[in-house]
Amino acid sequence: MVSIRVENLKKYFRKVKAVDDISFEVKNGEFMALLGPSGCGKTTTLLTLAGIYKPTSGKIFFGDYLVNDVQPRDRNIGMVFQSYALYPHMSVYDNISFPLKAKGSKKREFHDRVVNIVEKLGIGHLLDRKPSEISGGQQQRVALARALIKEPQIFLLDEPLSNLDARLRVMMRAEIKKLQNDLRITTVYVTHDQVEALTMADRIAVFSNGKIMQIGDPEEIYNRPQNIFVAQFIGNPPMNFVEAEIKEVEGITFAVSKNLKIRIDDTLKPYLKNLNSPNVIVGIRPEDIKIYKNKELNRDLTEGILYVIEPLGRDEIYNVKVGESLLKVITEEKLKIGVGERVYCEFDAKKVHIFDRESEISIRR
Ligand SMILES: Nc1ncnc2c1ncn2[C@@H]1O[C@H](COP(=O)(O)OP(=O)(O)OP(=O)(O)O)[C@@H](O)[C@H]1O
Ligand SMILES: [Mg+2]
Repeated sequence: MVSIRVENLKKYFRKVKAVDDISFEVKNGEFMALLGPSGCGKTTTLLTLAGIYKPTSGKIFFGDYLVNDVQPRDRNIGMVFQSYALYPHMSVYDNISFPLKAKGSKKREFHDRVVNIVEKLGIGHLLDRKPSEISGGQQQRVALARALIKEPQIFLLDEPLSNLDARLRVMMRAEIKKLQNDLRITTVYVTHDQVEALTMADRIAVFSNGKIMQIGDPEEIYNRPQNIFVAQFIGNPPMNFVEAEIKEVEGITFAVSKNLKIRIDDTLKPYLKNLNSPNVIVGIRPEDIKIYKNKELNRDLTEGILYVIEPLGRDEIYNVKVGESLLKVITEEKLKIGVGERVYCEFDAKKVHIFDRESEISIRR
């Protein structure tokens, strides 16, 4: 086992700053997710860790070793590429056991391990086939098995579940997490799927445009996003945002806009000093808004019109038009309200996020 330390890593492709000065550490045995939208530099980061790309500048350490000049094959990593990169002329069995054979192991030594892993990944019936004779999702699991079988010191996984159907993806998520937990192999897992990152990772690095926007455990990333990018990228349905102004009315502090007025909770007040101006963006998650059919007295309510209802089985998403903006509210409670009717929304004051409108940075930092 080994830790990874990345210091001021840059990887440019001529003018394209694919990775633009990032630093992070993955502890021994930790599961780190690199999360972000398409083109933000996740694969480039991973291929640089693997040694397939040379950094433009910066340093990569495995443990205390500077590995910048170490060849990929000498880095003792198990890698699943975004394109599975299976050997086309070999059977599934030979593909999976290849890393062990290459190390000189005999079939009787590894056969049970191969069987064990393919059972877990649900590909045990495909061992005799060639990669061209199995589906994309099956190829992806073969690639995963090949990386796992090596029991390397580091796993680098690039969207290893992207081609699986929803049910299989949920199952594999748990299997990979369990395997990683049992083996405690230091893992870097690239995904654009925030649910994967939140459910599997010990910590998440959120990427945008070649930069890291925040690093934290899933709880921090979800509950204390440091900027609007992270706030809007994490959560489904996404966080609601409304422009507002911080104002004091008769000794009470509010965030006010034309159509709403939110009392600032005492827990947030100390952070208001971080603002450069009273102009803010208020963020509130759909599950942190309560919706009422009737106007409840003595509550700070925001009035709106029910625009559309999206039923999700257990929950429902109420889309409420408030002035020009559309708020999404998610609730388990089924309200008997029709589209076009008036509704009242209550924001959970303790769960409100406030961002500086100019810098887009959270006041809680
Ligand atoms: N070999 C290359 N030559 C030139 N530009 C590249 C090369 N590889 C990647 N890029 C560019 O670098 C940026 C980051 O690409 P990268 O593949 O790391 O993104 P990603 O986060 O993995 O995206 P995705 O989720 O779509 O896989 C993109 O703008 C991409 O077009
Ligand atoms: Mg990629």
